[in-house]
Amino acid sequence: MNFYDSERMTDLLKPHGYQLDDNEDDADLIVLNTCHIREKAVEKTYSELGRIRDKINLRKENTGKKSIVAVAGCVAQAQGKEIMKRSPWVDIVVGPQSYQNLPELIAKVDPIKKNVNINIDFPTIPKFDHLDTNINERGASAFLTIQEGCDKFCTFCVVPFTRGSEYSRPIISIIDEANKLIDVGVKEITLLGQNVNAWNAPGPDKTIWGLGRLIEELAKINKLEFIRYTTSHPLDMDIELIKAHRDIDKLMPYLHLPIQSGSNKILKKMNRKHTAKQYLEIIEKVRDYKPNIAISGDFIVGFPGETEDDHQATLQLIEQANYAQAYSFKYSKRPGTSGSVFSNQIDENIKNSRLHEVQELLRSQQISFNETTVNSTIKVLVLKKGKKNNQYLGRSPFNQSVFFNSKNKNLIGSTVDLHITEAFQNSVAGEIINDY
Ligand code: 5AD
Ligand code: SF4
Repeated sequence: MNFYDSERMTDLLKPHGYQLDDNEDDADLIVLNTCHIREKAVEKTYSELGRIRDKINLRKENTGKKSIVAVAGCVAQAQGKEIMKRSPWVDIVVGPQSYQNLPELIAKVDPIKKNVNINIDFPTIPKFDHLDTNINERGASAFLTIQEGCDKFCTFCVVPFTRGSEYSRPIISIIDEANKLIDVGVKEITLLGQNVNAWNAPGPDKTIWGLGRLIEELAKINKLEFIRYTTSHPLDMDIELIKAHRDIDKLMPYLHLPIQSGSNKILKKMNRKHTAKQYLEIIEKVRDYKPNIAISGDFIVGFPGETEDDHQATLQLIEQANYAQAYSFKYSKRPGTSGSVFSNQIDENIKNSRLHEVQELLRSQQISFNETTVNSTIKVLVLKKGKKNNQYLGRSPFNQSVFFNSKNKNLIGSTVDLHITEAFQNSVAGEIINDY
């Protein structure tokens, strides 16, 4: 989502004379878009800020030019005052719901008198209403945020505090942005939301549409070839969306459905409001409708009070769910969340060894899944050149990274049929059999 937000900030600033520069050394404006989800991401913000300070000081010394520095995103939202204190040379602090105001905030930066412009409100008029005008080049695959925020308040998570409450973008603005993306050459759209499948909005037929119905509508856009979405919550996995996987060819067979833990006791303490069994039943249902679908998830190890038995329950759930790929993290105590004051915080060494076990199991499942695709033929959107000569990279329908060789014309942005020949841990290799 931060990637998407950064792109929208770039779109927003273009009419104000800014363009992307791949070198910070001589940039007039540096925007650091930040993540607050785990402690590690926050630490990164402050170390990046130190690095940026050295760069802008050097530029000032060498050229006399002053760069404007803005900190955006969820660390800005949660720690605006702390940033101003620790990095007083920052000019702008702007939260994820307020970055539509960047042009005005930039205009207000006083080059001499230090005065930080801070904007971390949750505005009453959604930011999307201000962002619908320009879309710059995106490449063949682009993100499109359709839903933001969260009302679920899992006890470990900062999202409800940093991104605010659940908001679904209206259909008309989503379709409009999708069409604009197609106009700049996009062929694959990944719909984004913290709870993307909680998206719902009134349709033109006056009924309330859910994500499945929205995807059906988007699939009607001719030049849009591939649709993906992330991240889903088990409680919002309705039958319409499950059926969409069976009925809509453009919808890729990949579902990222985090559960976090396999222990019912921990799920309850996490406020997930579902059991491990209910989660597995959802996956079973999804596989009934779409047998060949890649399932992905997220896991947190070392949540307060997690015993060895709870950890074993997680490993067992992973065995049962059989993931194509999944993400796993050590529990990180987040300020303001109810989990941060829970007793029985888990020792770091135990967290490390549990994480290792979870990741080993997930790694073996990932390799097995990748191997199942060997000898199949898949349609792949070519995204970029690989590191080697004549090598191209793309993504398989199952979200695997795919590489292949071709001496043909430039294939970036085109769709190819690939015969998969080899599987690795994080990717598969293929041979081109057809390009369109
Ligand atoms: N500690 C560790 N992982 C976390 N996540 C969210 N909050 C925390 C936390 N406090 C993970 C969850 C979520 C993913 C986006 O990040 O697994 O699904
Ligand atoms: Fe965070 Fe997702 Fe839980 Fe919402 S549902 S609080 S975004 S982990």
